[in-house]
Amino acid sequence: MLRETLLRTLDDLVGRYGKARENLLPVLQDLQAEFGFLGEETINEVARAFGLSQTEVFSVASFYHFLNTQEKGKYVIRICRTISCDLRDKANVLRALESELGIKMGETTRDKKYSLDYANCMGTCDRGPSMMVNDRLYADLSPSKAVDIIRSYR
Ligand code: FES
Repeated sequence: MLRETLLRTLDDLVGRYGKARENLLPVLQDLQAEFGFLGEETINEVARAFGLSQTEVFSVASFYHFLNTQEKGKYVIRICRTISCDLRDKANVLRALESELGIKMGETTRDKKYSLDYANCMGTCDRGPSMMVNDRLYADLSPSKAVDIIRSYR
């Protein structure tokens, strides 16, 4: 990403939302939508623009599962890591996905198509295990159902 493009985009966003702390999240969301992830340079420039420390901005960017601080694949698959899904056989769903994609949790396929990541509770605990592919939520997963869903994104 060109630094000038980042600075111009950030400038526009700060002009639109303002520099108040509560506007940090929408600015980060829009930057991610524009650039795909929130890398170190982006975090540093946002911190400067908002008058916050880099640690504060990074804490927000890394807290929310829908924000990425590292470059991810086109499809980000997030598996719920909260207790109800753990108790509903999440481990076998994850194993099936890792085997299908040939990557481990936290990794991205070499063709940059898929990333595997954890997320916190998605609100479908009674129908776990649950996962999201980008913004789409899937529940009642079995290992084979999860693999079929991933294959539908090919
Ligand atoms: S514990 Fe997994 S969706 Fe709530």
